[in-house]
Amino acid sequence: MTDYGKIALQIKALTEGVPYAAANLSNSAAVIYSGVEDVSWAGFYMLEDGALILGPFQGPPACIRIEPGKGVCGTAFEKAQTLIVPDVHEFPGHIACDPASASEAVVPLRTGSGAVKGVLDIDSRTAGRFSEEDRAGLEMIARAVGEFLSD
Ligand code: SME
Repeated sequence: MTDYGKIALQIKALTEGVPYAAANLSNSAAVIYSGVEDVSWAGFYMLEDGALILGPFQGPPACIRIEPGKGVCGTAFEKAQTLIVPDVHEFPGHIACDPASASEAVVPLRTGSGAVKGVLDIDSRTAGRFSEEDRAGLEMIARAVGEFLSD
């Protein structure tokens, strides 16, 4: 079983006092990818020039730019809401970076002031991989990431 509390603590320990966002996002992606069970891709899309741009990740190469409102990532970002998609083929406008991806969870990343600066994206090749328990765990992880993001 995935220990989300442990992953959040690892992210805090690795990033505390480190002023480099790319380093912190990279270490966070590594901890998430290796710690969350049955995941095929884990990483970040960060707001740059009005779009979500591919940030540090683990897994196969992925699409570089996602417009707000597009795909699962852009929709979660625009609504500032976590999206759990049990079957990506049923999600209108899903962006298929990895054709084998079956389910997906996307969690907005908020800074201390509450501004949404990007998203955490996790994919699995297992349909229905992410439950309500995973949602709560991934939101805890996103809060740990939000702590080192600047406004
Ligand atoms: N499937 C996502 C695109 C990003 S990849 O999964 C890494 C989407 O629909 O937004």
